[in-house]
Amino acid sequence: MCGIVGAVAQRDVSPILLEGLKRLEYRGYDSAGVAVIDENRSLQRTRVQGKVGQLADMLDTNPLDGHIGIAHTRWATHGKPDVKNAHPHICKDTIALVHNGIIENHESLRKQQQQSGFEIHSETDTEVIVNAIYACLDGKDFLQAVFNATEQLEGAYAIGVINVNEPERLIAARKGSPLVIGVGIGEYFIASDVFALLPVTQQFIFLEEGDIADITRDKLIIYDADRRVVDRKINISELSADVADKSGYRHYMLKEIFSQPEAIAASIEGRIHDDKVALDAFGENAEKVFSQVKSVKIVACGTSYHAGLIASYWLEEIADIPCNVEIASEFRYRKSVIQEGTLFVSISQSGETADTLAALYLAKQSGFLSTLAICNVAESSLTRDSDLVFLTNAGPEIGVASTKAFTTQLVGLFLLVVALAKSQDLSEQAESDYVKQLMSLPGRANHILQYKEAIETMASDFSDKHHALFLGRGSLLPVAMEGALKLKEISYIHAEAYAAGELKHGPLALVDADMPVIAVAPNDHLLEKLKSNLQEVRARGGKLYVFADKHSQMDSSEGVQTLQISNEYDYMAPILYTIPLQLLAYYVAVIKGADIDQPRNLAKSVTVE
Ligand code: M6R
Repeated sequence: MCGIVGAVAQRDVSPILLEGLKRLEYRGYDSAGVAVIDENRSLQRTRVQGKVGQLADMLDTNPLDGHIGIAHTRWATHGKPDVKNAHPHICKDTIALVHNGIIENHESLRKQQQQSGFEIHSETDTEVIVNAIYACLDGKDFLQAVFNATEQLEGAYAIGVINVNEPERLIAARKGSPLVIGVGIGEYFIASDVFALLPVTQQFIFLEEGDIADITRDKLIIYDADRRVVDRKINISELSADVADKSGYRHYMLKEIFSQPEAIAASIEGRIHDDKVALDAFGENAEKVFSQVKSVKIVACGTSYHAGLIASYWLEEIADIPCNVEIASEFRYRKSVIQEGTLFVSISQSGETADTLAALYLAKQSGFLSTLAICNVAESSLTRDSDLVFLTNAGPEIGVASTKAFTTQLVGLFLLVVALAKSQDLSEQAESDYVKQLMSLPGRANHILQYKEAIETMASDFSDKHHALFLGRGSLLPVAMEGALKLKEISYIHAEAYAAGELKHGPLALVDADMPVIAVAPNDHLLEKLKSNLQEVRARGGKLYVFADKHSQMDSSEGVQTLQISNEYDYMAPILYTIPLQLLAYYVAVIKGADIDQPRNLAKSVTVE
């Protein structure tokens, strides 16, 4: 998704803006641009269709100097990726603006603006904002013009705006899209997230819904949605500036796959005392809320949705609590019947996913018992606006394809299941058994990572394939779904996941020698059923790739490649069996030469609907 950086300082801000853009690359983008006000009070802008590296090359040849500036990486929504649609957008050489979000009433605003004589230079929804601000200036104060212009906007925005007539003033606003302010010494910055600004500050203010900030080098005034001056807390980030390096790995995704044992350990740490789940891991009020829970509703998107699906198997089996899981973009637009005592659980790596946030805000007005967020970003909108929070503590995830965020979400969800089961009379012995399973995870995850080479070899079979089928049963079905999602998002191979029992109801028609079938087959109560389903594949000439455990009694044979990745079966299976599928997707994508960390058309943080 689009990334914003801005700065007002006593030094030249171009290097800060450029470094900030590099650090936002992980969010996904297709064009980039920067604008500064130079010493002659003139706006200077450079934009490219392509990578920040190309923008840097252009700035090497034609540097832009200025003490105030804004910059942007664009992920196209309205209008194709090209230079004229790249931000910053400028109106009448006076106002420059960068935007993340979507302006829903852009068509009507554009029409009005054209009728009043504005020339339109791009196909974006953003251009109407910069024109609206210019139109509102009309002799008025710059800040007042931004107040008035934003009142005309419907939709979501985070914006940074500069004005040649007030070359020391940067105005920032947010509604529905994230924006942070970095606090320096005699300088201020804005950005879509803290990573962009870590080289220049550790101090951050997170703007809240509807806030507008009036920023000069030595003064910051924030107005809330009712235009009252407010104090917003300064947070000190513990992240270091080099948090986003690849530590010798070829891609962030590989680094993140391999960091799962530590990430999982970090998400367990401090959450278990004396073999018992510490309820305060979910917030102060958790014990009281959990004792009243009669059912659970989980809402999320993408990979986080798959985590929710796995949790629903655990919840009903371990805690005897009914659970329903729904995709956020569906939940937010339909009428749901909410039973008394239902806990609303949202899951999100970023905590800024627009659909998940909208679902949370709807849930807050819909009579749920309470809201709980499982999230990886402490200061995200989701964590700030939920009653209870479990932080997954996976550390920043940079690769667009979610890996360690998923497995640590599952850790959080398993802890939640055990915590809820405790309020339903779970015995101490059972709790201690579950805790032991959880504690065994880092070591067992490490063991599976050692199959890296075998999986890399397996991946070479997929290089000429256009489709793949993933099969699982029970709580391993969402694992198959996650495996299919990983493969399609980074290797661009079309992949589908099915409950293996569904094969004969349709998808079996697709199976032939060109359709590899990947199965996750732990030694659970459904193993024999799954084996029969796999026979149906073999009988049609389909080639099988099976991830099993030592006791699954499945060996490699003609047309069947089996990797026995685990020694025993327990509730941790969905977490453990995810890892070989991540590695498979990764190595297939490497062979295909794909852009693994920033797959085409995708963004890390989906902050627009
Ligand atoms: O930040 P979130 O967990 O809310 O993101 C949800 C999805 O956009 C995300 O999981 C997406 O599906 C990933 N690219 C999957 O790898």
